[in-house]
Amino acid sequence: MPLAKSPRHFLDISELDAKTLRRIIDAAHAMKKAGKRVPVALRPKDIADLVLVMIFEKPSTRTRVSFDIAMRQLGGGALSLNHTDLQLGRGESVADTARVLSRYADAIMIRANTHDTLQQLANNATIPVINGLTDKSHPCQVMADIQTFEEHLGPIKGRTVAWVGDGNNVAVSWMHAATRFGFTLRLACPKSLYPEDDAIDWVHREKGAVQISDDPEKAVRGVDCVVTDTWVSMGQVDAAKRKKLLAPYAVDANLMKKAAKGAIFMHCLPAYRGHEVSEEVLEGPQSVVFDEAENRLHAQKAILAWCLGA
Ligand code: CP
Ligand code: NVA
Repeated sequence: MPLAKSPRHFLDISELDAKTLRRIIDAAHAMKKAGKRVPVALRPKDIADLVLVMIFEKPSTRTRVSFDIAMRQLGGGALSLNHTDLQLGRGESVADTARVLSRYADAIMIRANTHDTLQQLANNATIPVINGLTDKSHPCQVMADIQTFEEHLGPIKGRTVAWVGDGNNVAVSWMHAATRFGFTLRLACPKSLYPEDDAIDWVHREKGAVQISDDPEKAVRGVDCVVTDTWVSMGQVDAAKRKKLLAPYAVDANLMKKAAKGAIFMHCLPAYRGHEVSEEVLEGPQSVVFDEAENRLHAQKAILAWCLGA
């Protein structure tokens, strides 16, 4: 018997090759241009019969709503569930959940507490699984960010981006993206909040242009884009300690002045004004944060189309 074709999972930017990622970003630009009515050429085959099941172990505004509307605009359907709505919340295994959902649905998107849950789901599902954020990464966000960078400043290849703040899940997806899309990423994080070793080791193995220091001014000098994120991610408990460590990493107008003229500011949102970013920068002319939020919709239409075989 021939082996069943493995599903097109979207688990991490590091798991896909540069050509596939470029194809998805190009499709995201085309999706945005096309608006609500996605042209047939960009839609997966038989989309009207396809349903995405979404599972949330953590809260979400953008991911939940943009995936749902993305499926509707493609012409399919979506179902959004908190994990406590499922037997998963009472101890049914992730593996059994994956096998059951694979009999009903056509793709699964999960926002999981741990990356291990995502991995187990993907290992046991016979339909595509999409990472809607874990403790380790947030690849859909960074695909939308790449789209946003390109619509403001042109192709990202060869450019320079600075990440200032916590070396968290979003930072790790930026490290993956820098390596696959061929741009330089300079991270400035307190030493105790550097990204995890496995992400740093991966970048070294793949020869990515990623530099890490604890100096925000050095990191932002002359860059095309400055990115930050909340100091306390969902599930983190040491808020007071983190806020103290991260206070010197706040992005304000003074720090933005060190970036290139015309540099943009990005933040995946939700933002905490007066903490990781000043009100002035978040609401200022360099900020593209609401374009990023909008582009979650377009980038995810492209990701869904790829996962569903378009
Ligand atoms: N940026 C992001 O993923 O937002 P939500 O937590 O609202 O989905
Ligand atoms: N790093 C943040 C991103 C939220 C979209 C978190 O994990 O809470």
